[in-house]
Amino acid sequence: MPTWTLHQGDALTILPTLTDPVDAVICDPPYNSGGRTMTERTSRTAREKYLSESGRNHGFDLGDFTGESRDQRSYAAWLAMILAHGYRLTRPGGAALVFSDWRQLPATSDALQAAGYTWRGIAVWHKPIARPQPGRLKQECEFIVWGSAGAMVPGNRPVYLPGHFTGSQPRGNARVHITQKPVRMLQDLVRIVPPGGTVLDMFAGSGTTGAAALLEDRSFIGIEQSATYAAGARQRLAEIAPHAAA
Ligand SMILES: C[S@@+](CC[C@H](N)C(=O)[O-])C[C@H]1O[C@@H](n2cnc3c(N)ncnc32)[C@H](O)[C@@H]1O
Repeated sequence: MPTWTLHQGDALTILPTLTDPVDAVICDPPYNSGGRTMTERTSRTAREKYLSESGRNHGFDLGDFTGESRDQRSYAAWLAMILAHGYRLTRPGGAALVFSDWRQLPATSDALQAAGYTWRGIAVWHKPIARPQPGRLKQECEFIVWGSAGAMVPGNRPVYLPGHFTGSQPRGNARVHITQKPVRMLQDLVRIVPPGGTVLDMFAGSGTTGAAALLEDRSFIGIEQSATYAAGARQRLAEIAPHAAA
């Protein structure tokens, strides 16, 4: 029977208090990216970065979140500290899957390795309804930088996972977070953990990783800094597994 826990607070404060081992870290950090100049990247809030002006003014009443104002060097250093805690908790042979956009790919792969993981590759999340840009290549992909805590052992019943995912961000009422990921994609990703295993996401947002874990019969430990999003994530997880809160 899978269980779930959702801590509210700063990952760097809560992670040192965790001791139970996990089978994988699957996380979607605030990218600290977006914008043409460093000033644009470090001075705008998450809402300003990730929602269009019309979305901000008319459509979405989605909560803002903090932690989006680091420059690239401090992002790499901060993410390495966070992932080092994830590495400490990951069982030998377990995995780390970390979302990134194109701009933060080098920083993310550096942070993953600095934390102690062995870098294994990059998977692609293709977003079919991304905005075309005149005279430029369309930015229609985000990435999953992944690695393992030492050697990986496929076991007697290995899984065969894709390295390419297609899916749009949830829309309309299904969209409850500015940078929400499609739960279908996460349901594939959590299968890197054996059934009954545990996934840790220290940037839980609306709880998509946790929802996917529970739907796939895996346990979940989440951390989310925003009180609003943490409450929403708890509600989402409780709707899937009402009696499984640890
Ligand atoms: C990219 S979003 C995750 C979205 C999530 N994957 C989903 O589908 O809803 C990153 C989240 O990390 C949270 N966050 C930012 N800094 C944090 C920190 N220091 N500790 C914990 N959570 C943090 C933000 O509030 C935000 O909800």
